[in-house]
Amino acid sequence: MPAVVVLGAQWGDEGKGKATDQLGSRVDYVVKFNGGNNAGHTVVIDGEKYALHLLPSGILSPGVTPVIGNGVVVDLEVLFQEIDALDARGVDTSKLLVSANAHIIAPYNRTIDKVTERFLGKRRIGTTGRGIGPTYADKISRVGIRVQDLFDEHILAQKIEGALDQKNHLLVKVYNRRAITVEETLEDLLTLAERLRPMVADTSLVLNQALDAGKTVLFEAGQATMLDVDHGTYPFVTSSSATAGGACTGSGVGPTRIDRVVGVIKAYTTRVGEGPFPTELLDDMGEHLRKTGGEYGTTTGRPRRTGWYDAVVARYSSRVNGLTDLVVTKLDTLTGLEKVPVCVAYDVNGVRHDEMPVDQSEFHHATPIYEELDGWWEDISACRSFDELPATAQRYVLALEEMSGTRVSAIGVGPGREATIVRHDLLS
Ligand code: GDP
Ligand code: IMO
Ligand code: MG
Repeated sequence: MPAVVVLGAQWGDEGKGKATDQLGSRVDYVVKFNGGNNAGHTVVIDGEKYALHLLPSGILSPGVTPVIGNGVVVDLEVLFQEIDALDARGVDTSKLLVSANAHIIAPYNRTIDKVTERFLGKRRIGTTGRGIGPTYADKISRVGIRVQDLFDEHILAQKIEGALDQKNHLLVKVYNRRAITVEETLEDLLTLAERLRPMVADTSLVLNQALDAGKTVLFEAGQATMLDVDHGTYPFVTSSSATAGGACTGSGVGPTRIDRVVGVIKAYTTRVGEGPFPTELLDDMGEHLRKTGGEYGTTTGRPRRTGWYDAVVARYSSRVNGLTDLVVTKLDTLTGLEKVPVCVAYDVNGVRHDEMPVDQSEFHHATPIYEELDGWWEDISACRSFDELPATAQRYVLALEEMSGTRVSAIGVGPGREATIVRHDLLS
């Protein structure tokens, strides 16, 4: 099974990092294909915690070649900080490859992210403030800076000038900020460029040749389906393609080469930032899930919003990604509940919706229709086979499988690398 996509099926933080890490010892390449350091993946290996943002989680597995694909936006300062932090802990980062076509998050993109959010006030997206949206906006507007531009000072200066042209009008006249000079930006980027040079590659060619040679490539998404710029809860989304198609456009590997698409999904739901969230719990139960699940953002430390599992979202994710498998994570967080409600459909102004409403206003007004499943009290964190789970926990997983229409191939019962129940091998 040479090419496997691992992506988030909800609003992010489903445990993609852990799922990728677990397959790490058996894959040759792990490619990050979208997003940037807005992502935060916590991976726990032998009790040691690693927080990754820009680097693919595969970097923690010795044999793996980690790749930053063309669909990613790269903050060079963050990249080198992350590499240095891992080097200091003895992780080998020397194999890292970065696409020559990936876009660079320039310092002015971070500034614009922050001032725009402030300007939006109540209408803000709740971004991570890392410059992600403005960098993708530059890419689509064709005024972006790409990795390859860093190695020609003349071209780089021209491109920065082009990018700053309109931005300075905006910064000075609308946001009342000082103008940013071409020189300061040029200096910031050139200082870091030389260190990047040996990592730069035609990653599309590398990956296709690897697949030709029978190697295994794992495509690791940042963010998630409901944050995808096309298929998510627009405008409360990130600015990249976090769904399965993004694995192709963001890496330069064609769809005919992808063998499997794995959706990682929490046994309940969380969301960071603004936007609609039908099953959100604003009561003590929401706080219970946040505390028990440790639901605080890896990137910004913000408390995550929490709620019950939403099977409508799961079905939608299965559809738009063509999921072949689900990995259900954090089942252990639900231990100790008498009943566990699961949203099976929405009520919108008295009309039942079994599928995601296409109309944004309807989704904003969706009220969950719940089915209550029986809970369990036994500690499940040491379970390593499906049969060891209490009968009601088994029934919960099987119910999720049936409601989403996609088989559940693995179940997470703790944060550690080993704390997983495998039902179907994701790589065969
Ligand atoms: P990602 O962004 O999708 O990689 O997810 P994050 O790393 O942001 O958030 C997932 C959190 O849940 C991390 O702290 C993981 O260590 C933790 N985690 C992942 N799987 C499990 C699980 O099955 N059980 C528990 N208790 N924690 C998990
Ligand atoms: P991982 O990969 C959860 C959210 C932000 C905000 C919106 C837009 O760890 O699952 P952005 O900075 O991307 O322009 O913010 O998207 N967001 C995430 N939420 N997990 C993430 O990544 C996220 N990356 C962005 O909170 O609502
Ligand atoms: Mg995360």
